[in-house]
This record gives sequence, structure tokens and C-alpha cells, in this order.
Amino acid sequence: MTANKSLLLLPGDGIGPEVFAQAKRVLDWVQKTGRASFTLHEDLVGGAAIDAYGVPVTDATIAKAKEVDAVLFGSVGGPKWDKVSFDIRPEAGLLRLRQELQVFANLRPAKVFDALVDNSSLKPELVRGLDIMIVRECIGGVYFGEPRGIETLADGTERGVNTEVYTTPEILRVGRVAFDLARKRANRVCSVEKANVMESGLLWRRVMARLQAEEYPDVELTHMYADNCAMQLAKNPKQFDVIVTGNLFGDLLSDLAAMLTGSLGLLPSATLGAKDPVTGRRAGFYEPIHGSAPDIAGKGVANPIAQILSLALLLRYSFDMEDEALAIEQAVERVLAKAGRTPDIKIEGRPVISTSEMGDALIAELEAI
Ligand code: IPM
Ligand code: MG
Repeated sequence: MTANKSLLLLPGDGIGPEVFAQAKRVLDWVQKTGRASFTLHEDLVGGAAIDAYGVPVTDATIAKAKEVDAVLFGSVGGPKWDKVSFDIRPEAGLLRLRQELQVFANLRPAKVFDALVDNSSLKPELVRGLDIMIVRECIGGVYFGEPRGIETLADGTERGVNTEVYTTPEILRVGRVAFDLARKRANRVCSVEKANVMESGLLWRRVMARLQAEEYPDVELTHMYADNCAMQLAKNPKQFDVIVTGNLFGDLLSDLAAMLTGSLGLLPSATLGAKDPVTGRRAGFYEPIHGSAPDIAGKGVANPIAQILSLALLLRYSFDMEDEALAIEQAVERVLAKAGRTPDIKIEGRPVISTSEMGDALIAELEAI
């Protein structure tokens, strides 16, 4: 059965276009299997869009993103755009896309590949077999809360304001995503906030507890303060299965969790919207966890694996193509176990290879599977 799916590709800035080129080769491989055909659209985003259109994402790109079946995103930003005004900085394009698509649940897996245990900054025994899923609320909290802004006070000094705000429905919908995922994993959810300091955290804790009691009594729920969670992640990360948290804490904790795995260059993420009750469709936005890495951009040395694993998540969550997603993940594991390595994960005894050579190795594995 061949499904025709439409995809919007947004490579962005820095290493984005380089790693995207390798992800496109994997897309070609999927098409060659005959299981799906894709209609591809591509556009600029972030700094590249500022240069071309004066804004980090255009209305036309937003409209296209809403129309297609899924969006694959690269990364945005770089020193070139440090001076543009705050409203149209490259990151604003990403935030607007997330918000316009209403993708509220950001899934950030932190999984340690066996072959990379020694790349982690933690001791091997602490991270071997590590498999955490962070579910980060993505379109609320202090990132979008009102009031916000910088105002000048009567005495001439200034005041910067942001507001952390969560409503019951916002907590419930992301909570359900976390519990549903836990049921397919080790069945444990740790809900993270600062209920000891913040009212929004107190509400978060109460709503999560009620949700568990009413709808997920079979899933274990624990609560943790965000600062303690950071400490526990560094101390004994394997205690976690699914972590669910708000936008800002999720941003911080997912970087920490990612680093435990040995390379930011390896981790993908999926950001999902609500399922339409009639069509069953849900918006899906897929991006690597790493940024645009301007320091290594254009050198052909970036690791394309996170971008390619983001494509695997897209196939899994938006297109229900579990076999293809697994094949890509398996190919990555095999390449890590024996092939050369990009500089970010280099080890003694293996050649250091380029972005496109990593692509070659992955395609060769995929063709052998
Ligand atoms: C992330 C990034 C973004 C965020 C930035 C680039 C706006 O750090 O996806 O984690 O803060 O959400
Ligand atoms: Mg971040």
C-alpha cells in the first residue's frame, strides 16, 4: 500500500542545511521501499528567512506548515543575526511555528546507544541502557505567558517581565500524552514543577495527581521539584522513565538529559498537537535537539544523526510507519557500533568521517536491512 504524504522541509541556519541533505537521502530511501511517496515542499526559516524576507518565518510558510501532513525542521540562529530586533530574531520563527501549529507536547527521548556509553560525561554504569522520555509542554508557560515585556519606570530604570501561567486544560492534555507514553514503556511518570514556590506549579501537581487517579490508576506517578530533578538526573538518571514538565523546566532538563547520552548530535524530538476527533489527524513537528552550531557550520563535519532520527520519529508518529522508523534506528545503531565517527563522537580506533560519509554509511546499512 502506497500512501502519499506531504511534508514541509525547513532546514534553517548553520548546520541545518548540511544535516538536512543527509536526511533527504534517507527520505529517498523510504520512497524507494515503495511504502510511501512524498510530496515535498521546502522553505527558509530563521536567519535565512530574515535575510530573504525580513521575518524569521513568513505567513505563507505558516500556512503551508498547517496544510501538510508533517513538518521536518532543522535549526535556526547564529551570530550573524545577533543584532536583529528581539521580535524577529531567528528563534521567534521556531516559537511561532510551534504556537501556530498548536503542537503542545514536545517529546524528547534521551536514550544511550550502547556504542556511545563511553562518550557520556557520566560513568558508564550510570548511563548504560538509559532510556528516558521527557515530555515538555511546548506552547505555554513562561515562553508565551502575558504580561511580558520591558518597561521603563518613572525613575528611568527598567523592568523586564515574563509570566509563568498554566491552565487546567493545558496541564491535562500534556499529562495525558505522558501517561499514554508511559503505558508503552516502563509505566512510570515523574511530574516536575516548583510547587514549593510557584502557584502554577502547585496547580500542575494537583491536576496531574487527579488525572492519574481518575484516568491512569495503572501508571505510577511521582512528583519532583525541578531543582531536585536536575540533581537526580546527574546522580542516578536511570530512576526515570517518563518525565513530564512545563516549557521552561523542560527546556533545561532536556538539555541535561541529552548531555547524559554523550552527544547532543544524536537526539531527535517530536512535537505533537491534539488529535482531530473527526479526521484523526494531528499536527507533527520534528526537529533535532541540537542547535545550528554556527562554529562548525559549512565545514561538513556536523553529525546528521539527530536530524535523521527526527525523520524516523516523523515516520513513526505522523505516518504510522513503524517498520521504516525502526529500520532507520537500527541502521544508526549498527553504524555507531562499527563505522567511522563524526568529530563530536569520535573514539580511538575509528576513522573520523564527514557529514556526508556518515550519510553514506547509514544508507549502506539501510540498503542492507
Ligand atoms: C529548544 C531551544 C528553543 C527553546 C530555542 C531555540 C527557542 O532551546 O528547542 O530547546 O528554548 O525552546
Ligand atoms: Mg533548549
